[in-house]
Amino acid sequence: MANSLRVIFTLFLHLLMITPFIIHGVSGHYALNIGFYSELCPQAESITKRVINEVIAIAPSLSGPLLRMFFHDCFVRGCDASILLNSPIKQAEKDATPNLTLRGFQIIDRVKDALEQACPGIVSCADIVALVARDAVAAVGGPHWEVETGRRDGIISSLNEALTTLPSSSLNINSLITMFQQKGLTHKDLVVLSAGHTIGISHCSSFINRLYNFSVIDNTSDPTLDSEYMDKLKTRCTKDGPNVLVEMDPGSFRTFDEHYYELVSKRRGLFRSDAALLDNPETKAYVETHRYGNREAFFRDFGVSMVNMGRIEVLTGNFGEVRKICSKVNSL
Ligand code: HEM
Repeated sequence: MANSLRVIFTLFLHLLMITPFIIHGVSGHYALNIGFYSELCPQAESITKRVINEVIAIAPSLSGPLLRMFFHDCFVRGCDASILLNSPIKQAEKDATPNLTLRGFQIIDRVKDALEQACPGIVSCADIVALVARDAVAAVGGPHWEVETGRRDGIISSLNEALTTLPSSSLNINSLITMFQQKGLTHKDLVVLSAGHTIGISHCSSFINRLYNFSVIDNTSDPTLDSEYMDKLKTRCTKDGPNVLVEMDPGSFRTFDEHYYELVSKRRGLFRSDAALLDNPETKAYVETHRYGNREAFFRDFGVSMVNMGRIEVLTGNFGEVRKICSKVNSL
């Protein structure tokens, strides 16, 4: 009896240990860990931080795209730097419409060059994307969190996969929750990570349907968007005008803060996907709790959710490779 209980307990323990791997689809035998480079390249994180601080001091508007790059990398085929690969026939992830507005690829190359000089062939591009996202956020006033490292780089990048797995800005709350769940992320991760929209800019084209043709039947505007804000947006984003840029968190789009939740609660979130956070009790409760501040808790949550996102379908151990040049696989 005691023996069979021991066997059941051992099986249960094993199940507990492999469950995260099943959820996240981890392809290697090794988990990520903090300080993965501490022996092989102890300066890896400080070099990355130095380069990013230099860049953001001159071009703070790059913090947004560098954070977004990590999200777009992780959601398509996991955090494997597949977002960085070039395709001569324009069929890679970066050629997919949602990625055409990504910027900052040359910054990743700059970090990679610095790391290759210090420790050739050691630091993966996938880890660089993760570290850069953290440092870009911290450089504009956001939190610092410990980044798990040990990711390896993938060798496949597909335009079609990017189109099907990146959430569109017009999604409703159920679709957003489903897409996040498919990546092992919770309701809380969704509402916390959406606050990445506290920094950066958007093209009018990403939300213009909310202004002029939200309903296909009678061309009305999105009733969930605050009317005063709607009017402001309409003066900037005209119906047939050029595809201009707007600040996503007007007035503080270069500062990482918790102001996003005040915007969303006042029905001033720019995208349908931001407004949708009010349509689920759990995500709405988070928005309401944080609308008057609570920076410390939000910053802590953001770090935790970024770590969670950074675990999506990672390649570790002997899987994948450490690319020499981030935009191409080693065999080319
Ligand atoms: C929840 C689903 C999400 C949707 C539907 C979404 C959609 C978008 C769209 C349409 C843009 C504007 C692109 C443009 O017109 O230039 C954008 C920008 C941005 N997104 Fe998201 N996003 C989502 C989640 C996230 C997450 C999880 C993060 C990071 C944690 C993030 C960070 C950003 C940042 C920083 C920008 C500004 C980029 C810049 O300044 O160029 N987004 N997002």
